[in-house]
Amino acid sequence: MECRSFHNYNDKNSTDTIVKSKRTKILEKKKAIDDVIKAASAHKDPLSSFPAFRFYSRHGISLYLESGRGDKLSAPVKKYIQILLKVNMERHYGSQWPSEEKVKRREMVAPEARYIFVYEVPNASQCETSQTSEGKRTITNCVVDRGAMVGFVHFRFVMEEGIPVLYVYELQLEARVRGRGLGKFLMQLLENIAQKSHMGAVMLTVHKSNSGAINFYTSVLRYLLSKTSPSRIEPLVGIEKSYIILCKTFNHEAAKAILAEENV
Ligand SMILES: CC(C)(COP(=O)(O)OP(=O)(O)OC[C@H]1O[C@@H](n2cnc3c(N)ncnc32)[C@H](O)[C@@H]1OP(=O)(O)O)[C@@H](O)C(=O)NCCC(=O)NCCS
Repeated sequence: MECRSFHNYNDKNSTDTIVKSKRTKILEKKKAIDDVIKAASAHKDPLSSFPAFRFYSRHGISLYLESGRGDKLSAPVKKYIQILLKVNMERHYGSQWPSEEKVKRREMVAPEARYIFVYEVPNASQCETSQTSEGKRTITNCVVDRGAMVGFVHFRFVMEEGIPVLYVYELQLEARVRGRGLGKFLMQLLENIAQKSHMGAVMLTVHKSNSGAINFYTSVLRYLLSKTSPSRIEPLVGIEKSYIILCKTFNHEAAKAILAEENV
């Protein structure tokens, strides 16, 4: 009897040790991912690692990009973001827009919100240009006489299903600069930033009625439907939801297995 209870005690002890070591491993893994996200978010200017993306001068437009963060937005920039969001997105949300607009206003100023702002360069002649390896002329430096803002990207470094990802909250361009390759250029920049910051994927949510954007992300940029998209988790719930979640994974096996799914 005594012997048996001693044996049980030993069994319990070793089970406790296994549970503890599993928990320690899970906590260590989570801390390592948190550290990756913190390091990525702490970067003051993610654009500085990609000087070729500082300027965009193609298809008759000359633009200048700048980094920003949600808790440092000036009042005019906040106003600009609100107006552009309304102009671009209200029609997709319909009667849901007033409540969605409130959510977006809160998200806009969150300390973890990171931005790329796009400005016109009114006087492109003040810029130095050089030839790229593909023979294209590109702006390398400018005395920037910053012009009007023409669009922005709001993104964040977050954890999704245990994977560090760059989540694109908003990609919004004014109609006058669309269809000239700028959206593709900005998404390429975000993918570069994500990879440089050791993220496993770029993710984004898109409204089901925004067929142009869905085409842009899936057919042009090859984003896949994510396993975290409501339709993948629960088809009946997915039908009711007005959005889908897309992602592009990098050389990250866990991200591929956990997040990516299939063509839309
Ligand atoms: C979606 C958006 C960011 C795309 O940016 P853009 O600068 O217009 O896109 P690009 O010029 O880089 O287009 C790249 C390619 O995508 C295609 N594409 C872009 N927008 C498209 C659209 N609305 N419908 C169909 N195709 C589209 C282009 O034809 C182009 O194809 P190509 O490379 O074969 O020529 C931009 O149109 C936009 O800001 N729209 C309003 C806001 C919005 O819907 N944002 C997305 C919210 S999730």
